[in-house]
Amino acid sequence: MSSTASLDGAKPPVFLRDYCAPAWRIREIELEIDLDPAATLVVSRLAVEQDPAQADVELVLDAEHLELLEVSIDARVLGADEYRASAQTLTIPGLRGRSVVGTRVRIAPEKNTALQGLYLSGSRDAGFLLTQCEAEGFRRITPSIDRPDVLARYTVTLRADRARFPLLLANGNADGAGELDGGRHWARFVDPYPKPSYLFALVAGNLEHIEDEFVTAEGRRVRLVIHAETDAIGHCGWAMQCLKMAMRWDEQRFGRCYDLDVFHIVATHDFTMGAMENKGLNIFNAKYLLADPEHATDDDYRHVLAVVGHEYFHNWSGNRVTCRDWFQLSLKEGLTVYREQEFEADLASRTLRRIEDVRVLWRAQFAEDAGPLAHPVRPDRYSEINNFYTATVYEKGAEIVRMLGVVLGAKGFRRGLDLYFERHDGSAATVEDFLAALGDANALDLSAWLAWYAQSGTPDLRASGRHDAQRRCYELTLTQRTPRTSGQPRKQALPVPVAVALLDADGRPLRLHLDGEPATAAHERVLLLTSDSATFRFIDVARPPVASVLRGYSAPVRLEQAIDAAALAVQARHDSDGFNRWFATDTLARRLFAQALASGEPDPALLATHVRCLDGALRDPAVDPALAAEMLTLADAGSLADGLADIDPEAVHQARAQVERALAIALAEPLLARYHELSGSDGTAVDLAAQARRRLRNACLAALCRADPRHVDLARTQRAQACNLTDRLAALSVLVNARADGVDPMLDAFAQRYAGDALVLDKWFSVQATEADPRALARVEALTAHAAFRWTNPNNVYALIGAFTLRNPRAFHRADGAGYRFLAQAITRIDSVTPQVAARLATSFGAWRKYEPVRRALMRHELEGIAARNGLSPDLGDIVGRTLA
Ligand code: ARG
Ligand code: ZN
Repeated sequence: MSSTASLDGAKPPVFLRDYCAPAWRIREIELEIDLDPAATLVVSRLAVEQDPAQADVELVLDAEHLELLEVSIDARVLGADEYRASAQTLTIPGLRGRSVVGTRVRIAPEKNTALQGLYLSGSRDAGFLLTQCEAEGFRRITPSIDRPDVLARYTVTLRADRARFPLLLANGNADGAGELDGGRHWARFVDPYPKPSYLFALVAGNLEHIEDEFVTAEGRRVRLVIHAETDAIGHCGWAMQCLKMAMRWDEQRFGRCYDLDVFHIVATHDFTMGAMENKGLNIFNAKYLLADPEHATDDDYRHVLAVVGHEYFHNWSGNRVTCRDWFQLSLKEGLTVYREQEFEADLASRTLRRIEDVRVLWRAQFAEDAGPLAHPVRPDRYSEINNFYTATVYEKGAEIVRMLGVVLGAKGFRRGLDLYFERHDGSAATVEDFLAALGDANALDLSAWLAWYAQSGTPDLRASGRHDAQRRCYELTLTQRTPRTSGQPRKQALPVPVAVALLDADGRPLRLHLDGEPATAAHERVLLLTSDSATFRFIDVARPPVASVLRGYSAPVRLEQAIDAAALAVQARHDSDGFNRWFATDTLARRLFAQALASGEPDPALLATHVRCLDGALRDPAVDPALAAEMLTLADAGSLADGLADIDPEAVHQARAQVERALAIALAEPLLARYHELSGSDGTAVDLAAQARRRLRNACLAALCRADPRHVDLARTQRAQACNLTDRLAALSVLVNARADGVDPMLDAFAQRYAGDALVLDKWFSVQATEADPRALARVEALTAHAAFRWTNPNNVYALIGAFTLRNPRAFHRADGAGYRFLAQAITRIDSVTPQVAARLATSFGAWRKYEPVRRALMRHELEGIAARNGLSPDLGDIVGRTLA
């Protein structure tokens, strides 16, 4: 442990400005791995090569949690005095030039509960072995230079007992297999593409598979194989379809073809994250791979599509072109999230995907950016890199790429991305390289955009318009300001693209004519704000228009718009931009919430306006039912509290509930009509139209039950008659939240029906954990003793405890602090098992300073209690340390 670390466990920080090119590179890595859950033997040969310009730098290999058995140089075994081993490194002094460094180590995958490196999924006798190396897991498998700018060619030979581990897989193409004595067998894999160690993977076990084929646009025949355990293999068909759609889409939209003869995907229930893009051998959390109508919801179907796409797209944005160092993480993640978003937007609904992404951005990223864990999309320091797989790096990173897409246009962006892949194929790049490629391909200097990567905090954007009837013009003034964030007191102006249309009183877009420019037929313009403030003058505007600003949410800013309710209503009813239709309804709802919070009641006139908007959307058959459902769904409490100080979560809950109830009561008639009209037709169909109808129907059901407890009978009937999980779960959730009579036997019946299906039981945990009632805590505590709950399983922990702390603010923030105490105890317990999960849970305390003094003190007390403990993991120590700083 370092002496500079402030908390037990915390590692000293690494700084972006200290980056040095590696003094040693590895050209080839040969691994021979004898697999066994209790004791796996790893033999490696690294062909290392020193940078002649750094001839004085020793070879230091990363090595953690390894039992070192032997070290050799060019096949000569070294004596103990010829190398130095620490808990983190293996140093070979005196080595120069080129050599082959050999090591033999032993590891114990069955003891590896951190789920980094090589570990066991499932039971010792029936489970399978797999790896997770990003970001720094490879060093837990074998000593190596475990950094992303060291790219090597891998040859991997796996050996294991054939009966216990009939399936052996590693990255790349298969290169032979055979029998060995004693019932063992071997298989060899060669990956022709140099890759960083974080993309290494192996899998060994007894898994079933389904298989398909894809012929690339370049004519390569690719075997597609999905592997899962026996009970899950029947649920992999949708993922296979998604994979083929993703492969075709990346060819058509971005000209990117797959490059190996085989593409494997493996599903596991034991995974800390969503999925991992290991070269040619993606490993997925089963939650994002399995889907069938009886065991998955409509949301699951969409998530599978998105995550299968995401991991597949990494093959270019991440694998063929990787990151120079972990500060550049968003280079692959932001870009890949953007590609995933566009994939779903092209294949499903652009408007809906945008609404969902913006909701996530507001809830998770804006909150992160406003608290003690705020960091730039490209952080300038970290002490534990695993804590930087954040909403900022992923979602805000994707927003930056999206803005560049808006500014360059589809063709210009494609040109730029083509140049980026061409220039950097097979190497490790930086954010500067990315901007340079996009700029060079379009003869533009994009260096000003670097500020988006370097500056943390969410910009406020003010938009105010002024119509001049005499001059027949409309002036739109845009002003930006980014509030200070922790560690960054001073902020600069950013390039902010603002997509704008002007609507007439009936919502028809006007032709836009900017003063000083030739007239065009365009109805939408992207205005680029590059300074603190600018005014844009549109001419030939006869009457005061409704300004539709930030269309498609063209920049990740907090929009503050001087616009009255009547104009918002025009947008909500008529805006040709689907996102802004929803945005207008969301803005109206937020105003109602603010009034309810301030004065105990929403303003009747504003309420009536909003009711008319929603009523129109509910009755209009031309409105996508899913969009209508989104308009009916109020922002969650966390997002509504954005920007408030001294938050009283109970007051926020009450104000939110009051708005929901008032709307539901006023809309009861069309809600009921729509509910019945949409009933009973879609069964197990999972096409988008059927999903959209279910979404609206279940939104109507939830609203009706808030308006009048008698409607709970509708939920009872729906629960009994449902023939898909979406409807069954939606009804159950309504019944739980209404504390309906007989809900406990219904919960039991549900658990019985899905006994043994871990993913469905996780949803059952979440439904109970998110009941917006302080008594939910007792239920959650009791459920930690349920047979289907294991503290060692990240999905269980997130489904029960994560859902409680993140999606049940009313109960988590109980005034007596019991929710906080529960979380602190859970974190401490999990930290000794899966530190990454403990660290992630601890971010639920991130906003502690924003709460009213009593809760603030209670949260601080729990944080300090965790900080004072001995033996904190570096992951948790880092989060708690920064949260309290
Ligand atoms: N690269 C993976 C993905 O986004 C996520 C890996 C996360 N790993 C971690 N240690 N946090 O597709
Ligand atoms: Zn990713």
